[in-house]
Amino acid sequence: MAKTEPFDLLTEQYDRWFEENRYIYLSEIDAIKALLPVFKKGVEIGVGTGRFALPLGLKFGVEPSCEMRKIAMERGLEVIDGIAESLPFPNESYDLALMVTTVCFLDDIQKAFREVHRILVPSGAFVVAFIDKESPIGKLYLNMKNRDPFYRLATFYSTEEILDNLQKAGFKDFRVVQTLFRNLKEINSIEPVKEGYGEGSFVVVRGIKR
Ligand SMILES: C[S@@+](CC[C@H](N)C(=O)[O-])C[C@H]1O[C@@H](n2cnc3c(N)ncnc32)[C@H](O)[C@@H]1O
Repeated sequence: MAKTEPFDLLTEQYDRWFEENRYIYLSEIDAIKALLPVFKKGVEIGVGTGRFALPLGLKFGVEPSCEMRKIAMERGLEVIDGIAESLPFPNESYDLALMVTTVCFLDDIQKAFREVHRILVPSGAFVVAFIDKESPIGKLYLNMKNRDPFYRLATFYSTEEILDNLQKAGFKDFRVVQTLFRNLKEINSIEPVKEGYGEGSFVVVRGIKR
């Protein structure tokens, strides 16, 4: 069953985080932008309240939490109820799929990645952004996992695990960038974006549909 309970109950608290952590948010947007291809029709899967889809120019979303969906729709996005493991779209209907900090809430990552592959056109791009479990912030989240209303449900992944799952689902030609090089409390300006992984806590991977 989709892990939506904390997002339905603590929607405003979730959404407020982006105002309270503005430089982290802006750094994450910059990192995703670095790998975002030119696209015609893009969908964010697990779009939440639309905090990433909107500034990145995506118009469509899938979101299983009713309360999160409501806010995203009020912000002008076209959002459908659904889960990544069974996407409510025909084959080859998008040229870009985005997933931001949703991968750790999936029930079945391989099934979800195969679904994304199905709905993309040939050579379509899948961009996955997440906190690397082997990074400093990833380790902090793992430590506080049982005390955090959102992350107690999460399964964190390393960049290698994400790449491995993408490859098994039929993606190729990977590019990876990273940001958030300082501890969360020390981030008081926009962080740089660097190629690769292993230093920054927020990692963005792009794969192309084979
Ligand atoms: C951490 S939030 C990220 C939301 C948005 N992408 C953002 O970055 O603000 C994770 C989102 O994934 C959604 N979610 C949970 N399980 C899901 C699933 N199986 N498929 C798609 N989305 C799911 C939750 O309802 C929640 O809105």
